[in-house]
Amino acid sequence: MVVCICNRLSELMISQAVANGARTPDDVFRRYHKRRGCSSCTVRLAEAIDRALNPPPSTPAE
Ligand code: FES
Repeated sequence: MVVCICNRLSELMISQAVANGARTPDDVFRRYHKRRGCSSCTVRLAEAIDRALNPPPSTPAE
């Protein structure tokens, strides 16, 4: 799923940036050598970073 349309940043790319130390939307832009465009993705980016940092607990196998 594309999170930042201006820079074509996907949820997976954001997860990878977080795994490499990104903690803010600007960290993610820097990681991919991108610049903030329209900024309409700021909240979605922050939520994607939060999901990457705090993945939901997996359900136990039955
Ligand atoms: S959608 Fe991310 S900067 Fe525009």
